[in-house]
Formats: sequence, C-alpha cells, structure tokens
Amino acid sequence: MFPRYLVNFNLSELETRTSDFLIIGGGVAGLFTAVKLASLGEVTVITKLSLDECNTSYAQGGIASVISEDDSTLLHVEDTLQAGAGICNEKAVKILVEEGPSRVRELIRMGLDFDRTNQNYALGREGAHSKDRVLHVGDCTGRAIQKVLMDTVISNKKINIVENLFVIDLLTDRDRCVGALVLNLEKNRIEAYLSKYVVLATGGMGQLFNRTSNSDVATGDGAAMAYRAGAEVMDLEFFQFHPTVFYPTKGKPFLISEAVRGAGGILRNEDEEQFMIHYHPMADLGPRDVVTRAITSVLRKTKTNSIYLDLRHMGEDYIKKRFPNIYCTLKDYNIDITKDLIPVVPAAHYTMGGVKTNVFGETNIKGLYAAGEVACNGVNGANRLASNSLLEGLVFGERVVRKIKSDREKVSFQPSSMEIKCLETVDAADLELDIPAVRAMLKEIMFSRVGIIRSQESLQSALDFISEYEGIFGNKDLNQKGFELMNMFLAAAITAKAALMREESRGGHFRQDFPSQRKKWRGHLVFSLSRERREEVNWIETTW
Ligand code: SIN
Repeated sequence: MFPRYLVNFNLSELETRTSDFLIIGGGVAGLFTAVKLASLGEVTVITKLSLDECNTSYAQGGIASVISEDDSTLLHVEDTLQAGAGICNEKAVKILVEEGPSRVRELIRMGLDFDRTNQNYALGREGAHSKDRVLHVGDCTGRAIQKVLMDTVISNKKINIVENLFVIDLLTDRDRCVGALVLNLEKNRIEAYLSKYVVLATGGMGQLFNRTSNSDVATGDGAAMAYRAGAEVMDLEFFQFHPTVFYPTKGKPFLISEAVRGAGGILRNEDEEQFMIHYHPMADLGPRDVVTRAITSVLRKTKTNSIYLDLRHMGEDYIKKRFPNIYCTLKDYNIDITKDLIPVVPAAHYTMGGVKTNVFGETNIKGLYAAGEVACNGVNGANRLASNSLLEGLVFGERVVRKIKSDREKVSFQPSSMEIKCLETVDAADLELDIPAVRAMLKEIMFSRVGIIRSQESLQSALDFISEYEGIFGNKDLNQKGFELMNMFLAAAITAKAALMREESRGGHFRQDFPSQRKKWRGHLVFSLSRERREEVNWIETTW
C-alpha cells in the first residue's frame, strides 16, 4: 500500500490560507494562468524558490508561432506531429498551433518586445521545423517572457505570490483536490493552502539526471504529488535530451541553444569533421533525439568526452548581436565563440510525459488542473518539437482558465467544509540516509541506465537500485531535500518501469534491444494508484 501523504499532519492545527485559485509553480504556464484567473477572483501563486527560478527563465531559443505569411498552421501541425513520432494527440496539436498566435500577441501586448528585422519580427529556425517561425529575444527569450509575466503578476492586486514554499502533497477531500500541504522554508513549519481550484504548473523533472539543462527546482515534485493523490501520469518514458549543453568542470551547466544550429552552427567531432551529414538528411538540424543519439555514438566510437559546436564562420558582429548571452557566458570560461569551438554534450532537457490531462488541463481528480511541462495532454507525443514548450504553457494555461470559468457555477463546495484528517498514518522508518549522496547516485544511474540509450538490462538494474530505497517513504526526519528525494525516486521508478515495458524505440525513448518502432506500441502508458488498495496499476491507452 502506497502512502497517501509524505507526513502526518492535523489540518486543524496548521496555519491555513484560503484563496479562490491556487497555482503551484511560477514559470510561463503558472504565471500566464494566474494573470488570466485574476479576472475571476483572488489567486495565490506558490513557488519552491524565488519566482524567477524555473525552467522558463533558462529557455533560450524562443517561442514557435505561425506569424509569417510564408508559413501555415498546417505546416506547424505537420512538423509537431512528425517530431512526436506517431503518438501525438492531434486535437491538442491543432489547438496549440491555432490558438498559439493569439496568446503570443497577448504577451506582446503585456510588453514583450521580440527581435525584429526592419518592421517584421525576426524568425529563427530550430531542429525539425520546416519554416523559420521561432520568435525570440536575443538568446534569452525565456528570461524576457518570465520578466514580462512577473511584472504583470506583481502589479496585479488580485495575485498573491508566496515564494520559498515546498509543496509536500496535494490535499484531497474524498474525490476532490482542495489545496496543498506545504513546508514553509523560511519559517520551517508545515502550513496548508486551500482552494476549490488547484493548478499544477511545477515544470518537469530534468534533475532526475546528473546531466541536465534544467533549473534546480525541476525534480518531478508535481507528477509525484499528483500520483500520490490519485492522478494518472502518462508517457514518462519519453524524455528529451538536448544535444548541446556546455558542461564546465566548475560552475553550472549552460545550454547552447538549438537556435545556434538554426543560424548555421555546425557540430564537429574531434577531428573537426561535420558528422551529422552521415546521420540525417537535415544534418545538424535533424530532430533532437536523432542528433543526441548521433553525438552519443560519436563519443562512444572516439572515446572522447565532448563534441564541438562551430560558429566561427558566422562572423563576430552577427554572433555578438544574435547570441549575446552565450557569447558573454562562455567568455567567462575563456572561450571566445567567435574564434573557438564550444565543447558540448547532450543533457536531459524536457519531460514529455507528466500528469495526464485533457485539452482543458483537467486531470482525473476534480478541482486539479495541470498546465505546462508537468502536464501531459499528448501535444508532444514521443518527442517535443523545439520551441513549442513556451507556447504550450500559454495556450493550455489559458484553456484551464476557460474551463474553470465555465464550470464555476456548478461547484458549490467550500474549502472550509473540508474533511481532511490526515488519515493514513505514515509508518516512520528508521533509515539513516545520506540524502546528497543517494541523490547523486540516483541521478548518475538515471543518466547512465535510463538515459539516451536504454536496454532491458540497464533499465532492470536501475529499477533494482531504486527498489532498495522503497523504505525511505515514511522516514520521520525528512526535510525539504528528503521530500524532494522521495519525489525523485517515485518519478524515476515510473520512468524506468515505463521504459522497460515499452519494447520499441520511438522519439525520446530509445531501446538498443528494440531499435525500431512497433505498431502495437502506438499508444500511451498510463500509471496510477488503484483506489481501493493504493497499489500501482498501469495500462496502455490508444485513443484520446
Ligand atoms: C533551445 O534553445 O535550444 C531550447 C529550446 C527548446 O527546448 O524548445
């Protein structure tokens, strides 16, 4: 039997705050949803660390949108479906592409100033796009979007932002989500945030892997807490690895945007040969999964630690203007990208799977919605098309609000009438745990055995490692890092199990023992807990 909550608590003893809407997470999906919901009532947004610490802030390339007359929604839909390797939810893809430009215009009205060439928006190209359609702000598009949204929410009196709150669990009363149980990191105490409507926008789980482009907050908390609350999670075996991340020996990993290859950047091996021409007709701009595996195979063959990205032919003026952040950051490491090659490696980048939702962000739990990277509505299929993620956060965030608006009259329940008693007691295990060491081991094992290239053997050995730590659930001395580690183990376990079950290769999931796509796997693996016994159940879903 799987524990419902990670801690014992008595709601009547906790400091409690109630608002009309509760949003967990403050990236593009969370903040855009907050702005829209504010027209309906009081909104509380809670974030794990500071408001700007999220994957959105690190997004470089841009936001894909059909803006140019030379482009069409049909082509953007086709490119997205093609990247998704046969299992996208076509309805969700059409919604993304068709509603995207209106949401982007709303961002522009909020004050976002995308780069222009003369009067027109400058449109970049990224991998697997058939047209130039990526709007950008230099190479810091995510940061610019985050800033505009932060300025908007901070100036809105209906929106209350609370930073440094670690959400331990979602609170449910019978079959409805009614809020969140949080650890206040400043006061070091447990509190409750109650609401009739809870929107999960916690981002992805790149931190499960020891090589990642992701923010420190991306530890899979959203999917793990939703799963404990009874939500269905889907497609976790599909993980996107970004081909080009700079990994300094000291300091934080740093993404080198695909926009660099879109602008003509070339991947080279240690002999400075352009190798991607041997792997895909689109060469350096092939789909991310193909480029990532090609790099992995070059690294294995040549027994080297990195391959190289070459921008030198682009010219100093252009490089400094188009990629100022990459130029300045690498300068700090004594790499002058106008003259030197950039050493890069693939790293975990984007979680295609997550909490299963419909195209209005509704989960299978009443009152619980999900949007952005934590959600899985099938828009990304087995592999997300570059620069679709910021768009996804906007489009499906807005649809959550539309749904809540239309359903509001029907919901008569009041958070104050709730009956949560914290019921299932957690059996406290006396397990001595060196949390940082175990976390580092888990991340290493996830990257090497549940990473870019997988096999029955590697996945089984990862699961054997994970199962050794099942007893950590219920450890009584846990702090934030401990709760986080439990979430990571849970998310890692489902990811590895799903990857082991899926005996084929598709998109971001590559099995060297099953290297081709198989018809019988043209569907989605869904995991959940049985209602009665709280035991894991899973099934394949083929229709939407
Ligand atoms: C990048 O700039 O390469 C990342 C963009 C994305 O992941 O969509």
